[in-house]
Amino acid sequence: MKSLPPVITVDGPSGVGKGTLCQWLAMRLGWHLLDSGALYRLTALAALRRNLDLADEAGVARVAVELDVDFVPDATGSMLVLLDKMDMSDTLHSEATGNAASQVAALPAVRIALLQRQHNFRRAPGLIADGRDMGTVVFPDADLKLFLTASAGERAYRRYKQLIKKGMNANLEHIVKEIAERDARDTQRMVAPLKPAADAETLDTTQLDITQVCERVSTLVNQRLQVQVIP
Ligand code: DC
Repeated sequence: MKSLPPVITVDGPSGVGKGTLCQWLAMRLGWHLLDSGALYRLTALAALRRNLDLADEAGVARVAVELDVDFVPDATGSMLVLLDKMDMSDTLHSEATGNAASQVAALPAVRIALLQRQHNFRRAPGLIADGRDMGTVVFPDADLKLFLTASAGERAYRRYKQLIKKGMNANLEHIVKEIAERDARDTQRMVAPLKPAADAETLDTTQLDITQVCERVSTLVNQRLQVQVIP
């Protein structure tokens, strides 16, 4: 039987640094990247564009099945996200979209609708999968499962600094509240709640900067997959 391409899963709550780590790993290894959060965000955006109620499970699941999305690298190397051929890269990462995504992500039919689409990202030479249930539900046979954590206060502060750096308005207290609400919804939902897989390596990044996180993960990848990540 032909074996499937290798997968490294990276799960954890919002603002823990998964996105940066996954992009770095995918680039260093030359592997594909699945940003599963973007699929939930796009589903929420597409549903809102069709004036659907985000609690309309059957309607939102239909939107998820029909989703016309493309991830296209631009001239600077960053990824453009197209929904119905329109560039959504800016709207995609707003807090409002994140909250809407967290609502549709709690609907079982939506998760089922996005499953095959996520499996299709598993192509040679390998896949880095970023999300909440990558190691528990989507790729339970992954070659290496990572679970990143950090205190809610630290995650809120990182998000605050990101927004300020972009010249946007930010209120730390408000961000702390939103992070706590999102954590509660993502960890307490009935289907595929955010939790580490039994065989995941957990890494607390509260006291680590991104360089230190990348170094630790490189060591794990080198040991487990016998592929060399050069930091
Ligand atoms: O990673 P993110 O912030 O882009 O994710 C947006 C929301 O989507 C998040 O609140 C939880 C949900 N999500 C999920 O339920 N399962 C995933 N695999 C990825 C994201």
